[in-house]
Amino acid sequence: MKKIYYLPIVVLLLVMSIKNADARAFDLPALPYAANALEPVISEQTIQLHHGKHLRAYVTNLNNLIVGTKFENLSLEEIIKQSDGAIFNNAAQLWNHTLYFALLSPKGGGEPKGKLADAIQSTWGSFENFKKDFNALAVAQFGSGWAWLVKDASGKLSIVKTNNADNPLTKGLTAILAVDVWEHAYYLDYQNRRPDYLSELWKIINWDEASKRY
Ligand SMILES: [Fe+2]
Repeated sequence: MKKIYYLPIVVLLLVMSIKNADARAFDLPALPYAANALEPVISEQTIQLHHGKHLRAYVTNLNNLIVGTKFENLSLEEIIKQSDGAIFNNAAQLWNHTLYFALLSPKGGGEPKGKLADAIQSTWGSFENFKKDFNALAVAQFGSGWAWLVKDASGKLSIVKTNNADNPLTKGLTAILAVDVWEHAYYLDYQNRRPDYLSELWKIINWDEASKRY
């Protein structure tokens, strides 16, 4: 008789384990370089905190928040487009940081090539003007946020800034460059000198990756 009582519990546990195996769990994206590879522009300590602590927390929070919700099995992009509040903040920060770290490289710097270089030239007149405008907008972002080089549906380039976790995906724009201007991105290395962080950052921008996105 006892076996009959156990059977529903065994079935329930089996169903729960299958459901759990199907559920989405986002992973911490691997850094495409060593934590000290971006020195002296960004220190190993900053990368370890930024990637290993801040980004990891966004991933953990997101995975915990979506359990049992309609977002559980959606792609990251769909979660960002359909959510708000804490789920949006953590999902968007995962997406934003994945781009940010991918768009930096110890072999980066210099100037873009090919079609992206042509488009920057025709929009801003020169690469130097583009950098000047980008830095000015990134400095002007009040508090935490991001600065982006984006492309609209017609292919037109522009520079935009967003607050907190907000990003161009929600506005139907394609992100070509993503620059984190939250203090956690630079405070250990540059303290309150955001303009210094921004002017140094051009030395490690991965233009090959940016061109692929354009
Ligand atoms: Fe960040």
